[in-house]
Amino acid sequence: MDPQSRGGDSTDVLPAVPQDGRGTGAVAKVRDLYKAFGSFQVMRGLTLEFKPRAITTILGPSGTGKSVLLKHMVGLLEPDSGTVEIFGEDIWKVRERERAALRKRFGVLFQDGALFGSMNVYDNVAFPLRKHTDLPEAEIREIVMERLKEVGLEAAEKKAPNEISGGMKKRAGFARALVLNPEIVLFDEPDSGLDPVRTSLLNDVILKVHGDDKGTYVVVTHDIRTARKVSDYVGLIWQGRVVYYGAADDAFASDDPFVRQFLAGDSVGPLGMD
Ligand SMILES: Nc1ncnc2c1ncn2[C@@H]1O[C@H](COP(=O)(O)OP(=O)(O)O)[C@@H](O)[C@H]1O
Ligand SMILES: [Mg+2]
Repeated sequence: MDPQSRGGDSTDVLPAVPQDGRGTGAVAKVRDLYKAFGSFQVMRGLTLEFKPRAITTILGPSGTGKSVLLKHMVGLLEPDSGTVEIFGEDIWKVRERERAALRKRFGVLFQDGALFGSMNVYDNVAFPLRKHTDLPEAEIREIVMERLKEVGLEAAEKKAPNEISGGMKKRAGFARALVLNPEIVLFDEPDSGLDPVRTSLLNDVILKVHGDDKGTYVVVTHDIRTARKVSDYVGLIWQGRVVYYGAADDAFASDDPFVRQFLAGDSVGPLGMD
């Protein structure tokens, strides 16, 4: 069953993307993005294109603008200057209604899974379907259970968020991010707070689901093992700019001093602390 093919809500303002063509056009392009908060210049001319159907990993020291970049991509923050194009549309040139429709084509996994504490796992995952579609509960159940199974949580459907581990919360957040069948999925440090085994399990789930769904995935991480495992492309961000971008194999073999320093975790090199 394909949630994308359902009509009946405001996603109708955009033409439906056929499944076989999903992710083949321009998917996401960020051009010359500048953003300051008060006097603090966070984005400083960041330009990056995301290849359709690929997993692009965004690496960079903390506080360098990775989460701010994701918030611009999903239209939660407006650039001071520069553009964010999603499926060929400049998201700040379209009307609010269209921007809202574009947002629905994203799945977002925030750092802690961002589950509603008052709802069990099932209701958390069902939430976007109940909010954005008119599907009968039987069909919602089918989609939710399929997604829970995909992330290995079918036995945890009745658990409250505070009854499950950090790794399970992230997988529940991932299942919730997937129920509207998004074409772009953004992960903000999916591995933060997880031990190496749970990180590895989550990465396996990300790879498996990506293999099935073929979406365009953007994974922000500072875990090198995650980057090595899941990336097709790697962008290294520092001080609000891209200082390196390349295919994963090239990135991990690169002599670029920024890349070498970041991969080695050295304190000496071009990536200064400020
Ligand atoms: N809404 C905001 N208001 C003020 N400062 C912000 C806001 N969002 C982010 N920042 C600042 O912008 C910088 C980059 O943040 P962020 O993108 O979250 O970094 P990271 O690369 O660790 O994800 C940080 O110094 C952060 O404090
Ligand atoms: Mg962040």
